[in-house]
Amino acid sequence: MSVIHIQGLKSLHGGIPIQGSKNAVLPLMAAALLHSGTIVLRNVPEIQDVFCMLGILKSLGCHCIFKEHDLIIDTRNLDQASICHEQGKKMRSSVMLLGPLLGRLHKVETCFPGGCSIGKRPIDLHLSALEKMGARIEVKGEHVTAYSHKLHGADIRLAFPSVGATENILMAAVTAEGVTRIYGAAREPEIGTLCQFLSAMGARIEGTGSSFLTVYGEASLKDTTFVVPGDRIVAGTYLGAVMAVGGDICLSGVPVDHMEGTLQMAREAGCELCLKQNQIQARMKQRPLPFKLITGPYPEFSTDLQSVMLAVASVAQGESCIQENVFEGRFATAQELNKLGAHIIIEEGTALVTGGFPLRGSTVQAWDLRGGAALVVAGLAADGESRIHGYSYISRGYEDICRDLKALGASLSLEED
Ligand code: UD1
Repeated sequence: MSVIHIQGLKSLHGGIPIQGSKNAVLPLMAAALLHSGTIVLRNVPEIQDVFCMLGILKSLGCHCIFKEHDLIIDTRNLDQASICHEQGKKMRSSVMLLGPLLGRLHKVETCFPGGCSIGKRPIDLHLSALEKMGARIEVKGEHVTAYSHKLHGADIRLAFPSVGATENILMAAVTAEGVTRIYGAAREPEIGTLCQFLSAMGARIEGTGSSFLTVYGEASLKDTTFVVPGDRIVAGTYLGAVMAVGGDICLSGVPVDHMEGTLQMAREAGCELCLKQNQIQARMKQRPLPFKLITGPYPEFSTDLQSVMLAVASVAQGESCIQENVFEGRFATAQELNKLGAHIIIEEGTALVTGGFPLRGSTVQAWDLRGGAALVVAGLAADGESRIHGYSYISRGYEDICRDLKALGASLSLEED
């Protein structure tokens, strides 16, 4: 298994571009299936989840070319409705194919999706919404089969603003008969991106950016080229890195407007920020000030950055408090951070963190994507060498975390197996 080796306590300096967004590109790749033609996506990150989705699209009959961050998807020969279990299990986003495949082929065979073990992650909201739109769904053990002669529009009220369910309904609604209204939709920026992409393909969607979306169905779709925005979570990770170990960095290609919660938290922790269009300059001259965070659906603080901020809190000048409200399993990282010398106690969904600097180099194991990134950030602020196992989780969402942090002056390397 590949291991990241870090020699900690080197402050960060310099500038790097931020890769395209994982959470934006995966639904776009799924949405491409709604159309019979050619979709071109630019600024596509070279991450394992994208390669996995690419494998699924190819197995369904699509012809794909992925070169230098440009992805061409030719969906004209799409004729398979069955997602191989091995591929479906690898990634949560395989569930996103339900809506588009039902729309295009009127049938899907898949399995309960896999992904990081950060909580229960059911798909009941996806399935009940698609049923309401006319799909017949059979669940046998791990197998899910869905059929629809023709999907129709429906009024759907989401009990929780699920990102994936909102995206699935949006995609299913584009070619369904009639109008679909989504009440209580998630408002994450990646949903806005999906709406923009679907609109560019020819869909008619109202309410983009709000929790009430209206989709007028039976759109006739066309070939489209679309640029994937920068990854706000990757940018937030590197912001966390400079907060933990100090320095002066510049991140470009960042969707600054979508990072309000993270930027506010960074300022609270004592980070000086200079914002330009698509660019963040961050300077950290002291150890972080203690802070309080509560995760929640956008625009609340992103659960995806909770683990990284747990690492930042571990070196703060006092007691911080982080409450997780979205995925109950995210605190598994706390135990590994404690092995690096952090003092984190978990009590009823809340982490109480007593900061101390520096942390202590050690060998730790990542159990999920963002938790893995948090361990790397902690390793940067640890005295001596840290070894982070579980690189296969980190590479699901970060193109090359070692390349990026090395470019900022950190001392780390990947030992590949
Ligand atoms: C997406 C993001 C993930 C992010 C999460 C929350 C992608 C590829 N992934 O995941 O990085 O952490 O949003 O911002 O975009 N839930 C149900 N039933 C369902 C669906 C969800 O109970 O049918 C619950 C989940 O267990 C969780 C909460 O809703 O507690 C949020 O999940 P959801 O917003 O659906 O997250 P994902 O789309 O899986």
